[in-house]
Amino acid sequence: MKKLVVAIDGPAGAGKSTVARMLAKRLNYIYIDTGAMYRAITFEVISKGLSPKDDEAIAKLAQKVHIELKNTEGAAMVLVDGKNVTEEIRTPEVSRLVPEIAQNREVRQAMLLLQRRLASQGGVVMDGRDIGTNVLPNAEVKIFLTASIEERAQRRYLELKAKGFAVHLEDLKQEIAARDKQDSERPIAPLVQAADAKLLDTTSLAILEVVTKILNICEERASIV
Ligand code: DC
Repeated sequence: MKKLVVAIDGPAGAGKSTVARMLAKRLNYIYIDTGAMYRAITFEVISKGLSPKDDEAIAKLAQKVHIELKNTEGAAMVLVDGKNVTEEIRTPEVSRLVPEIAQNREVRQAMLLLQRRLASQGGVVMDGRDIGTNVLPNAEVKIFLTASIEERAQRRYLELKAKGFAVHLEDLKQEIAARDKQDSERPIAPLVQAADAKLLDTTSLAILEVVTKILNICEERASIV
């Protein structure tokens, strides 16, 4: 089968990363989690004590920081300047701040270049918010994954609780809604379904069902490109 470029976009908690990771494994492709990149920069902003409002300092940081995604056996590692921040980028503090950092023009430009470079050989599944619209507009397969806000909040709740965070479902619901709003209304590369993306609502679908649906789309696409 021809090696495709697969773009998966959608709001927070729609199941993008789980689905994208499984899909990449099934296709033997590279998985690229672009949200992890924005989270990694946000983590650096926090650990360097920069103000999230200091656009200039954040732009400078984005230009010099070195972000790597390492796919080792079964686990995806995120490194910032060689430091493993895989766990640290998933804290509620980073989640709250990331949409603001992801609005910075230079941050987006630096990430765009890195993401395009990583996808240049094909055989990739990349997930995010603006992959099908902006980063990889020529991707052969574009999926827009969504689910109800209740379902997405519930998924995050279980995920964070399993990691030992004290979280409340109602707070998460509000936080996710706020994050969606910020991501969808920002002027640069907002979260929006690409005109040629296939919409998949995962509210009442099991992960495996979603993966199978996308695999079928990939097979169909590969047979005609
Ligand atoms: O998918 P995630 O929750 O890990 O993404 C974290 C944040 O990064 C999200 O609030 C929006 C931002 N993001 C983005 O602006 N563009 C992307 N391609 C991926 C993520």
